[in-house]
Amino acid sequence: MNIVTLVGSLRKESLNMQLFKTMEERYQGKLNLTLADIASLPFFDQDEENIPPQVVKEFKEAISKADGVMIITPEYNWSVPGVLKNALDWASRVDKVFVGKPVMALGATPGMLGTVRAQMHLREILSSPGIQAKILPPGGNEVLVGMATQKFDQQSGRLIDEGTLSFLDSKVEAFVDFIKKEN
Ligand code: FNR
Repeated sequence: MNIVTLVGSLRKESLNMQLFKTMEERYQGKLNLTLADIASLPFFDQDEENIPPQVVKEFKEAISKADGVMIITPEYNWSVPGVLKNALDWASRVDKVFVGKPVMALGATPGMLGTVRAQMHLREILSSPGIQAKILPPGGNEVLVGMATQKFDQQSGRLIDEGTLSFLDSKVEAFVDFIKKEN
């Protein structure tokens, strides 16, 4: 299964990028997780949406071809980071590559609440008319990694908290089932 992943942090030591790397390794053979380079997308410009720059075309094609999309994002000021919103805005126009696409959302933060406010915003954005993704339904499927600095190994930069890892396994399984059902 081909899963394109959007990570909402550009920081070198990003916990959310570490979560992506953990998942990329852990689910190898089961899921082919590829990272979309959302940092290289220019700011969305409506004047360019019909003939967008090559990087935007490639990004949209990758989403379009994927069996599903994972969005792993920090919370910035109770919402999603601008770099992620920018990518979603490009994707929402003209060919609307997210329509009907299965999406799973995850987030990690050093704080207690595990990006819950950002995730709620993200769900609204993903439900907007230009996006209309099929989001893994809430009610136990939210992956909110709070107190994340204590759950990652400082040396390897990988998630090592056993409880979080087994929870993650079950939610990834739920996403795989969801994709099979929806595609
Ligand atoms: C934050 N942070 C943060 N945390 C949170 O739980 N809720 C929030 O609203 C915010 N707001 C916020 C705004 C900005 C501009 C920054 C830089 C940070 C803290 C954030 O969770 C923390 O820096 C994470 O480590 C960022 O994720 P990465 O870069 O580690 O993936």
